[in-house]
Amino acid sequence: MTNGEGKPREQFSSKIGVILAAAGSAVGLGNIWKFPYEAGENGGGAFIVIYIFSILLIGFPIMISEFVIGRKSRANPVGAFKKLAPKTPWFFTGIIGVATAFMILSFYGVVAGWTLEYIYLALGNTFKGQTTADLQNTFDNFASNPIKPVFWQILFMCFTAWVVHAGIKNGIERITKILMPLLLLIIIVLCIKSLSLGENIDTTTGEVIGSSLDGLKFLFKPDFSAINAGMVLDALGHAFFSLSLGMGTIITYGSYVRKTNILTNTALEVTILDTLIALLAGVAIFPAVFYFNVAPDKGPSLVFTILPSIFQEMSGGYIWTLSFFVLLAVAALTSSISLLEVAVSYFSEELKINRNKATVYTTVIITVLGIACSLSLSSWSGFEVLGLNIFEIMEYASSNVMLPLGGLLISVFVGWYYRRNDFVDELSNGGTLKIKFFHLFFFIIKFIAPVAIAAIFLYSTGLLKFD
Ligand code: TRP
Repeated sequence: MTNGEGKPREQFSSKIGVILAAAGSAVGLGNIWKFPYEAGENGGGAFIVIYIFSILLIGFPIMISEFVIGRKSRANPVGAFKKLAPKTPWFFTGIIGVATAFMILSFYGVVAGWTLEYIYLALGNTFKGQTTADLQNTFDNFASNPIKPVFWQILFMCFTAWVVHAGIKNGIERITKILMPLLLLIIIVLCIKSLSLGENIDTTTGEVIGSSLDGLKFLFKPDFSAINAGMVLDALGHAFFSLSLGMGTIITYGSYVRKTNILTNTALEVTILDTLIALLAGVAIFPAVFYFNVAPDKGPSLVFTILPSIFQEMSGGYIWTLSFFVLLAVAALTSSISLLEVAVSYFSEELKINRNKATVYTTVIITVLGIACSLSLSSWSGFEVLGLNIFEIMEYASSNVMLPLGGLLISVFVGWYYRRNDFVDELSNGGTLKIKFFHLFFFIIKFIAPVAIAAIFLYSTGLLKFD
């Protein structure tokens, strides 16, 4: 297989390289920025239970499927379906995926840009002495400024393009290998600090303002009365988003995996790591949310106000704050490159545009879309469709519509269309591995996953009603 320039297709150089690159894609703003605020808006524990169910029952089998489709076909998401299902409309699944990559990366780049501003603010020690209310103001003033967020977003997109242009081994693999473990470390430290905050007592009145223990209860004591259809779709959509599923990211990365790697293990490791980091981010954030007595459902600004507040309480707060935002930006980068890679591999392999040009074209289009998302929070905030601004439309439509749709198509493809023997052959490395539970896997991918996705989608959008 060659790309637009006729060079041989790249491969990841090592097993750990694949895991870190795929985990680098999965672990990102979804875990640290989106998961806490989605959980906060959806009542905490009950949301987490459904999120974990979605991961086990739907996410994990689809991750295996995407890896297999990618490695078997050695192609971008569109080319993959063209190869495995020639002369059929299945390649539309890939087209939908590429379109979704544009949508996600447009708002993703905006939030990633925010992390760059926060690095800049942390460098200047701006957060020192700020209360949570001050920090909220800092965030609101920044996000409603029409120029600054756009500046950082463009800068971030340039970094993304630069890494993607450097290619798989030198760009993506190298950067994730160093920085992912560092991120994990700092989150664990944050968890410890957040949990040890204890009770927040007003020194003048002696009243209890809040307690970190309540945050843990919020996270892990599910209140099942909080469950409703919209929340189930949010949890399912977030499971896809967080694991980078449903649009061909894992197909694309799978296409660079060596034939000797064990795909089920890789999928399992990535799934566990991603879920673990989301839960750890929850444990870092919610005890502090309740300690400072802030509303858990304040939405996208949540981590940007809470985390600097925790850092204020720590000795060496300056360096912790700075390193945290640097690592968050890197986590965002290892995810955004995986989104851009989908578009670039499609443009270079299917449309035969050389890789450098493909990188430039796709980055420019996505950045322009992203500027619209960013401005929809400032100068263009008056423009809304169904009560959602452009940023929210991109976020909602991609997570709650496009990714579940992509996941549905992938599960139907593997469960009903693709030859089971070919699938098992690829999954078992040509029969050299014994695959346990594969009847269970096919049962899930054939019946459970598609039915569950379709039912959740139809019901929560009101297209289907139970009496
Ligand atoms: N999973 C990433 C995160 O949690 C974002 C991401 C990267 C993504 N690639 C994706 C989301 C593909 C959906 C599909 O931040």
